[in-house]
Amino acid sequence: MRTPARRTRARAAVFAASTALLLGLAAVPAAHADGARHRAATLDDLAQRTGRYFGSAVDNPELDDTAYADLLGSEFGATTPGNGMKWYATEPRRGVFDFTAGDEIVAYAKAHHLKVRGHTLLWHSQLPSWLTDGTWTADELRSILKNHITTEVKHYKGKVFAWDVANEIMNEDGTYRENIFYKTLGPGYIADALRWAHAADPKVKLYLNDYNVEGLGAKSDAYYALIKQLKADRVPIDGFGMQAHLALQYGFPSDMRGNIQRFADLGLDVAITELDVRMILPADTAKLTQQADWYAQVTDACLAVRRCVGITLWGYSDRHSWIPSVFPGQGAALPWDENLQRKPAYDAIAGALAAAASSATGH
Ligand code: G3I
Repeated sequence: MRTPARRTRARAAVFAASTALLLGLAAVPAAHADGARHRAATLDDLAQRTGRYFGSAVDNPELDDTAYADLLGSEFGATTPGNGMKWYATEPRRGVFDFTAGDEIVAYAKAHHLKVRGHTLLWHSQLPSWLTDGTWTADELRSILKNHITTEVKHYKGKVFAWDVANEIMNEDGTYRENIFYKTLGPGYIADALRWAHAADPKVKLYLNDYNVEGLGAKSDAYYALIKQLKADRVPIDGFGMQAHLALQYGFPSDMRGNIQRFADLGLDVAITELDVRMILPADTAKLTQQADWYAQVTDACLAVRRCVGITLWGYSDRHSWIPSVFPGQGAALPWDENLQRKPAYDAIAGALAAAASSATGH
């Protein structure tokens, strides 16, 4: 039997070989007699051949990094604003909306033919202080929440294809997170939020989104039960977002493919919404090889389930990542390094996508 480490190494070698084989000349810019050059197949090109998208989040200041923004625009087919559509940014004063940051990303996305995931209408974090510092009756808070959701969803109607309506509403043990909305309104705020979002834009896909729900466990069980109930109650919900902020030191989520499948079987789309795979620094070859294997495993898990519609990285390069400031001593989490050079994870993702793309197209 192969040890996990040997299996990882063997898998990485297979990826490198299969990527080269499957991508063939498409991966290498090829000179033509007329001087035209083939563009290399991007991650999104490969994902599209399987009927999916491949995206990366972006935070507004990163758009000023031209090299970074250019690669975002050419490699990916979807983006998510890292902060620009959150409540603190969009309604900094009660009833006063500011869509500057989100609009900037929508404009960039339009110019580069990326679609946009809206993130997020409701979250316990990054709320404006007028909201968290206030004391609200249930009626007041319900009206504030309804107005926020309605105004933001209407503003981005036709400009985003999906919304993370409610973000991180469960605790690790599967109980409801006691955020300001739960404490004042009870758990019914979730169905209300979905209904208000649907009323504002009946076509946009509505998601619940969280971390540590990629594998089977108490937290994903709680979402499974909640979404089953929402469906039974005919509450509009289209998808479940698995953030997938993974860390090598904590092990790969258990039965990710089976977990994606059970949500799909509820009649939902599933999306991998914020993928990154961090490690304890410094990075070394063994960790980068294991990281590549995990990226491939996540990609394979999504590709195995028809209703897993796409994968979004939470930023694509170690040059811009939320991790080092939140988890000091950890990082190197993304498939491109600080110099925008591809890491083994890139080849692993491309290999997994290319294998599925070639079987999808019969080549
Ligand atoms: O805007 C201020 C700026 O004025 C100030 O100078 C600067 C100094 O630190 O801080 C800026 O705010 C930062 C904000 O991002 C905008 O850049 C906050 O400190 C920082 O904490 C905040 O981090 C964001 C984090 O959510 C907040 O929890 C990350 O960029 C963002 O990537 C991250 O994204 C979340 C998803 O929304 C939900 N899932 C988890 C994911 C990672 O935490």
